[in-house]
Amino acid sequence: MILKDLIEYAETHFRAEEAIMRECGYQDLSAQENAHRHYTIEVRRFITRINENWFNFPDDLFVFLKSWWQEHIIKMDKKYSPFLGQLKEPDKIHQAAMDNLRLIL
Ligand SMILES: [Fe+2]
Repeated sequence: MILKDLIEYAETHFRAEEAIMRECGYQDLSAQENAHRHYTIEVRRFITRINENWFNFPDDLFVFLKSWWQEHIIKMDKKYSPFLGQLKEPDKIHQAAMDNLRLIL
């Protein structure tokens, strides 16, 4: 199921993203961790609902995912980009990005 792939990808991505934020001393790391945890819990709830009733696909799943992409990825994640210059080992960004790409391809 595509949602299980989505959650597995997200968890790996979140771990890499949080490691990078930790490495560069990002001040709002705990807010990011909370948002990531919330996303994971919500997507798991959607998976449970879909498994329980395939004929009633939740419309609010699309609202949730759209909101996540708009609010978290575009706004919240963008806030830590200025901190990336403080990474002691910039190769970690490249490695994390490559690890994420490998999961997608
Ligand atoms: Fe994030």
